Amino acid sequence: MATCRCRPPPLPSSLVLVVLVLCFHGRGLHATDTLTVARPLTGDQKLISERGKFALGFFQPQGSTGRWYMGIWYNKISVQTVVWVANREKPISDPSSSSLSILNNGNIILSNSNLTVWSTNSTNRASSPMVAVLLDTGNLVIRQQSNASSVLWQSFDDITDTWLPGNKISLNKVTGVLERLISWKNLGDPAPGMFSVEIDPAGSDQYIISWNNSVVYWNTGNWTGSSFPNMPELSPANTYPNTPYTYKFVNNENETYFTYNVTDDRVLSRNVISVSGQTQSLVWVESAQAWVLYFSEPKSSCSVHGLCGVNSKCSGSALSSCSCLKGFSIRDPNSWNLGDQTGGCRRNVMLQCGSKSSAGGQQDRFYAIGSVKLPDRAQSIEATSIRNCQLACLNNCSCTAYSYNGTCSVWYSELVNLQDSNDGSMDSIYIRLAASELPNSRTKKWWIIGIVAGGFTLGLVVIVLYFVRRRRRISVTNHNDDGSLITFKYNDLQFLTKNFSERLGVGSFGSVFKGALPDTTAMAVKKLEGVHQGEKQFRAEVSTIGTIHHINLIRLLGFCSEGAKRLLVYEFMPNGSLDHHLFGSSGVSLS
Ligand SMILES: *[C@@H]1O[C@H](CO)[C@@H](O)[C@H](O)[C@H]1NC(C)=O
Ligand SMILES: *[C@@H]1O[C@H](CO)[C@@H](O)[C@H](O)[C@H]1NC(C)=O
Ligand SMILES: *[C@@H]1O[C@H](CO)[C@@H](O)[C@H](O)[C@H]1NC(C)=O
Ligand SMILES: *[C@@H]1O[C@H](CO)[C@@H](O)[C@H](O)[C@H]1NC(C)=O
Ligand SMILES: *[C@@H]1O[C@H](CO)[C@@H](O)[C@H](O)[C@H]1NC(C)=O
Ligand SMILES: *[C@@H]1O[C@H](CO)[C@@H](O)[C@H](O)[C@H]1NC(C)=O
Ligand SMILES: *[C@@H]1O[C@H](CO)[C@@H](O)[C@H](O)[C@H]1NC(C)=O
Ligand SMILES: *[C@@H]1O[C@H](CO)[C@@H](O)[C@H](O)[C@H]1NC(C)=O
Ligand SMILES: *[C@@H]1O[C@H](CO)[C@@H](O)[C@H](O)[C@H]1NC(C)=O
Repeated sequence: MATCRCRPPPLPSSLVLVVLVLCFHGRGLHATDTLTVARPLTGDQKLISERGKFALGFFQPQGSTGRWYMGIWYNKISVQTVVWVANREKPISDPSSSSLSILNNGNIILSNSNLTVWSTNSTNRASSPMVAVLLDTGNLVIRQQSNASSVLWQSFDDITDTWLPGNKISLNKVTGVLERLISWKNLGDPAPGMFSVEIDPAGSDQYIISWNNSVVYWNTGNWTGSSFPNMPELSPANTYPNTPYTYKFVNNENETYFTYNVTDDRVLSRNVISVSGQTQSLVWVESAQAWVLYFSEPKSSCSVHGLCGVNSKCSGSALSSCSCLKGFSIRDPNSWNLGDQTGGCRRNVMLQCGSKSSAGGQQDRFYAIGSVKLPDRAQSIEATSIRNCQLACLNNCSCTAYSYNGTCSVWYSELVNLQDSNDGSMDSIYIRLAASELPNSRTKKWWIIGIVAGGFTLGLVVIVLYFVRRRRRISVTNHNDDGSLITFKYNDLQFLTKNFSERLGVGSFGSVFKGALPDTTAMAVKKLEGVHQGEKQFRAEVSTIGTIHHINLIRLLGFCSEGAKRLLVYEFMPNGSLDHHLFGSSGVSLS
């Protein structure tokens, strides 16, 4: 360690691996890109692709101790970014007693204490010596040693959650084999999660994102010949004339596939299906030492089916957007904190269910939530008033909620996809809870008055809720839920940067200015130019950067989004990561 020129990491525990990577890179003079029969890979040994872009070896995901995986990651960047994992579901506990080897029959096997953990299953029997080579595209190929085009197997055909330039996602119509990107379960666990991306198996010219391989919640729309209707960011001639990307969609008798490529080799770009169910197109920005989101789909994370699991509410605000409904608690806090909220929430107190007459039991009550987009799987029943609707729900033990707008809707299962309304909808939903969860409170009084006075008062309640909610929203713009990102006013940034007088450089997405916070913390303010995105999308993207910032070396302090103005505010590190690589040497020219 002492001889290696690694920057001391500000967050030691999560960066140990990064440091190791940098160190190994430093001493990796004899590193090779080729795995041969004679030389298996074990412990901290790695393959490094020819020009050093990718590495293959054992790694530990963030926050996981004692769980090791064989995978491929970017070799030259400071943030651990894994693009492929062999043993997604079968971690090993000790790399030094494990090895990756290639057999004479052309299969690679990963074994731990001589037990096979993972292997390729190629059937071709090769006559000449076989090798596995890690290419600079991030692809691991098995081929004959003497013939580079005799590829027997490649990791590009066994994708995990990441889709690299040059790779296809495809549907082979002859063999029926479908390439599917499947999200990690959570940020610390590469096992297959709930969300996947694939070419529409029904045969149309589009790809789709689905939940649990069953519910399709987003699609690209049919390829028009140059772009996808629901993905305007991909139209080269349209919004981004200087885009370094090229795209190709092919649908013929043998296969359907979509692929993209990056024409500028210096641009590091990847597409992933994230643990929160969005496809994200990311670009490495050297000056920020961070992956910056180019775009994501669906734009609103709340449109991801089942993102928050059951009995929760998804809010479209900038930061972490799932919360349990009143009377429910997070089912699996560990996964939840690692970004997988699909486990949802469970009831704190079981429903009484019986009527008033049941021994000592109090009747269940209802709790109102206003201005929502109602959950999936509503059933309409006959009821002439909100009171009858409530009674109908109360009288059926399986009924968990109701809503009334002239029609009585009830839910007979756990609630999925309940969202804060984004379109001004005034629907309210009444959630059934055990009486003990709702002690005699204003809520209850409101509720009784509401019933007694009928629809008129209901209207009033809804209006009150609406304003309460509005008030809450306004306060959120000043202090954010996770307490880390600051929402700056443009005027303030103008002041803090002395009217953008000290320009540090011109970067990939716009100019960067120096400024200082009132507590004299130096900061770098990036004014994004040519970013044509709406307020909501920008906030969603900032939130993504916000959630990944803790693994970055440079911290995002906050952002500003006013009118057409979009700014990002970073900590300024004079001799740290914002050094000579400053702003734009990465060659990104997306706007
Ligand atoms: C693994 O196999 C090798 C050779 O067959 C043997 O020498 C070694 O003891 C085995 N290791 C374990 C842990 O069984
Ligand atoms: C190889 O076959 C085994 C057993 O059928 C399977 O579990 C494993 O996922 C396969 N490996 C690959 C890379 O397809
Ligand atoms: C190399 O492999 C390819 C694909 O299997 C084959 O078409 C080609 O003839 C081989 N070349 C030589 C020199 O063997
Ligand atoms: C997309 O194409 C399929 C068939 O190829 C067609 O059935 C479908 O209606 C098309 N979708 C749209 C939105 O045009
Ligand atoms: C996901 O699908 C599997 C198999 O189709 C099913 O067994 C499982 O219950 C589903 N998960 C959820 C949360 O619905
Ligand atoms: C489809 O596969 C067949 C058999 O390999 C081949 O003859 C044909 O040219 C292929 N069609 C296209 C469009 O590539
Ligand atoms: C992608 O672009 C690179 C140049 O950056 C080029 O070398 C490579 O051949 C292209 N790949 C494909 C599959 O077109
Ligand atoms: C409650 O509703 C469910 C779903 O409609 C129904 O199957 C069940 O019979 C109902 N129970 C009672 C007691 O009405
Ligand atoms: C009432 O709700 C039902 C079910 O959600 C919906 O189909 C209907 O359009 C709504 N009616 C009014 C008047 O909003």
